[in-house]
Amino acid sequence: MQFMLNQTHIQLDECAPDTTLLEYLRTHLVQRGTKEGCASGDCGACTVVLAESGGDGLRYRAINSCITYLGAVDGCQVITVEGLSHQSGQLHPVQQAMVDQHASQCGFCTPGFVMSLFALTHQPQEPHDTTPTERIHQALGGNLCRCTGYRPIIDAAKSLLS
Ligand code: FES
Ligand code: FES
Repeated sequence: MQFMLNQTHIQLDECAPDTTLLEYLRTHLVQRGTKEGCASGDCGACTVVLAESGGDGLRYRAINSCITYLGAVDGCQVITVEGLSHQSGQLHPVQQAMVDQHASQCGFCTPGFVMSLFALTHQPQEPHDTTPTERIHQALGGNLCRCTGYRPIIDAAKSLLS
């Protein structure tokens, strides 16, 4: 199987069928920006973005890497928080918005929120779509934060959609 991890091509001759994407990222590739919280698809700490080719270009969606088997990303691009900032060190606009709105405290949930927002900002708005606030709530519905409170995170999201 093969996939892109950010801009790096990864090819594996074999992998255990029960290896999760999160386990592979953190243990095998030592990419630890993606966090493990609940390990059962409930908290969003492990969120990464999957880019898949669709009929009209790439489609981006946030997934929980803790409940995604590695084999499921064959042929896709996996985007993690390590892949967002510029090589110069300049933050991605999503990251900068989180900083500007003071939307992080302990930071454990932050990569997951950032990746969910990254996916949101790459999704086309359907003509019949919901309001920006509804889109934000929908996009962040799977991400939990136990210390910041959600208002600054929502404010960061609003600044990105405005
Ligand atoms: Fe909680 Fe994956 S670690 S959803
Ligand atoms: Fe600590 Fe969200 S900033 S859990």
